[in-house]
Amino acid sequence: MKTFFTLFLVSILISAQNQNLPIIPNPVDAKYQNQNFSLTPKTPIYTRHSNVLSEILCFNHFLQSYYGFKLPVTKNVPEVPNIEIIFSNDFKAEAYQMEMNSQSIKIKGQKSGIFYGLISLLQMLPTEIKETHPIPCYNINDYPRFKWRGMHLDVSRHFFPKENIFRYLDILAYYKMNTFHWHLTDDQGWRIEIKKHPLLTSKGGWRNGTLISHASSPTELYDSIYYGGFYTQEEVKEVVAYAKARHITVVPEIEMPGHAVAAIHAYPYLSCHGKEVSVIQKWGVFDDVFCTKDTVFSFLEDVLTEVMDLFPSEYIHVGGDECPKINWKNCPVCQERIKSENLKNEFELQSYFIKRIEVFLSKHNRKLIGWDEILEGGLAPNAAVMSWQGIEGGIAATKHGNNAVMTPGSHCYFDHYQGDPSNEPLAIGGFTPLSKVYSYEPIPEALTAEEGTLILGAQANLWTEYIETWKHVEYMLLPRLCALSEVAWSPKGQKEYESFLIRLKDHFQKFDKRDIHYAKSIYEINTEIINDTINHQILLKLNQAYPENKIYYKSEFENSKETFIPYTRPILIHKNQTIKAETRDDKGNVLGKAEQSFFVSKSTGAKIQLKHQPAKSYSHGSPHTLTDGILGHIPWNSKEWLGFQSHPLIATIDLGTTQNIEKIIAHTLKAEASWIHLPSKMKIDVSMDGKKFKKAGELSASDITKSGRILEFNKSIKNVRYVRISFDSIGKIPAGKSGAGHNAWVFVSEIQIF
Ligand code: ACM
Ligand code: ZN
Repeated sequence: MKTFFTLFLVSILISAQNQNLPIIPNPVDAKYQNQNFSLTPKTPIYTRHSNVLSEILCFNHFLQSYYGFKLPVTKNVPEVPNIEIIFSNDFKAEAYQMEMNSQSIKIKGQKSGIFYGLISLLQMLPTEIKETHPIPCYNINDYPRFKWRGMHLDVSRHFFPKENIFRYLDILAYYKMNTFHWHLTDDQGWRIEIKKHPLLTSKGGWRNGTLISHASSPTELYDSIYYGGFYTQEEVKEVVAYAKARHITVVPEIEMPGHAVAAIHAYPYLSCHGKEVSVIQKWGVFDDVFCTKDTVFSFLEDVLTEVMDLFPSEYIHVGGDECPKINWKNCPVCQERIKSENLKNEFELQSYFIKRIEVFLSKHNRKLIGWDEILEGGLAPNAAVMSWQGIEGGIAATKHGNNAVMTPGSHCYFDHYQGDPSNEPLAIGGFTPLSKVYSYEPIPEALTAEEGTLILGAQANLWTEYIETWKHVEYMLLPRLCALSEVAWSPKGQKEYESFLIRLKDHFQKFDKRDIHYAKSIYEINTEIINDTINHQILLKLNQAYPENKIYYKSEFENSKETFIPYTRPILIHKNQTIKAETRDDKGNVLGKAEQSFFVSKSTGAKIQLKHQPAKSYSHGSPHTLTDGILGHIPWNSKEWLGFQSHPLIATIDLGTTQNIEKIIAHTLKAEASWIHLPSKMKIDVSMDGKKFKKAGELSASDITKSGRILEFNKSIKNVRYVRISFDSIGKIPAGKSGAGHNAWVFVSEIQIF
């Protein structure tokens, strides 16, 4: 017992010390040495290996920009204390060892490992260094879990000059990310100079305006600003070199066969119909895609040849996502291609397209990577799949023996909201808070150990439809990148969110000092609904991340004049009211806020059953999300809505006792750019015993079109205990709309019964 207690105490002490080591991603092994190293601007860096000077140069670049000094570098044995850099082939690539005592810091590894060791040292420095600063000494052994630690940036929807890209690469390097996926072409602008086809940038790099309202809002508002830009090949070379010095590989993405409108604007012959089209000004998926005629392949081979000359990456990303097939269906050349190649349909034509490009790339010793739609119609033999629509693409690819990079929308889309949308800048939708990113496990459970080795790693994507400024890019990136870096680097069993949050505070201080923008959503109050269906009521639980901070709240209803009081336990919600809450630190400073309104009806807190479960990614709080008194907001976030695609939403609500009802209101969503359509029908059945149901009525497609997204069924019905509400979907999305040919989604946030 005593031994156990001692061990327990020791382990608490060790973890407390490691929390003083503010390194993100958390190193594999770090042992406190019970002494300090005093770093001053004069501490020499000593190395006998000239091949690591570029890593030292880069370290000094960081020191200069964060602290305003560089350390002297020497080949001759200097006086102590000093920092010694030792190149050693005994280490695996990216692994390093750091030994520290009061007299010396020794970092060993190959070049990439030394770079990461220096980054660890950089992160161990305080926010400010005056004359001298003691750094607690640790011996560290460290190496990454995955070899692909990726971060993407879309520069088509909004363009960011090369100086911004340098800043992005510095942030990636600071978190030991080694892959920058540069999304260079899309419908809204072509951003890389191609010498043989200059109109791609002179015409395709510019648009005549941009959507400024949300793509799912009923009215479209545009500015009329001529907008665009591109990178010259000289600038691309600078970016690739800047990245290389930071041990980052730049993987360029040239989108095909879809998301090609900017290229088609420049060269109309690239489409099936050959007509003039404009560079797109809004967001979504568009029908004008590359035709499958030979001249298109020649054009793409020209483009890829120049791209391969600029980018030394093993992989070239060719997009492959969201390619509508409607133009191919109507194109004699594409139809002839289907016949002559013995293909079954347009999906196999997509596969033919990607395979043909793969053959070209592999002739040049490059590998193809594409979004998970490259699985459609059969996967190219050596292609790697970037699994974004979920994890299924990654599972299918690895089961097939191919590599995959995991970047599922649910955990890795940094264009989603990261905090309560009412406190956040406008975003595309979704809800991917820091804790969710941190919780991501890149190897799907469905894989065997061997299949798991085909998962190259994890990546997050930053699409910029709603991100116009550089500050906003950083805000969406940080601190979620910190969480992703730990997902991709640290051992699986060693991840611990509480320790991460403590280390993160040090990083926040440094962001403040360095004028790096980041979201403080972590200080927000996380609202959680407790469904007490036994007592037919709901309670609101308020959580916040840091134990030293406290929550205060007040309730507003009608003309009440409540004041803020300390939050001690979940709050019972029994009438229409708005709860306002704040987190405060020990000095009373407000760090984060939350506000939640409730609309109580007979269904609030009722027992509810769903015939079919919602889609996994849109199932938060299922099934009670439909009866929690919270009406979904627009733009939608995944906390307030349930989403159904492959099965209909059929909900049975038990009112607990027999009652008379007057009205049923369903809050549905129309966001057609995101493939979410109004249901085509809402049917109501009622029952006294939960067994025998009788039809009470329905809203038809035309009722629904007339009433918009809040569907109201007005009819007095006596003696009802169970109410069953069924929503029919429109089925396949019609041609001309985003996601045409796929099943439409039905989203519902609340079913109110009065
Ligand atoms: C994607 O988000 N369309 C890959
Ligand atoms: Zn065609």
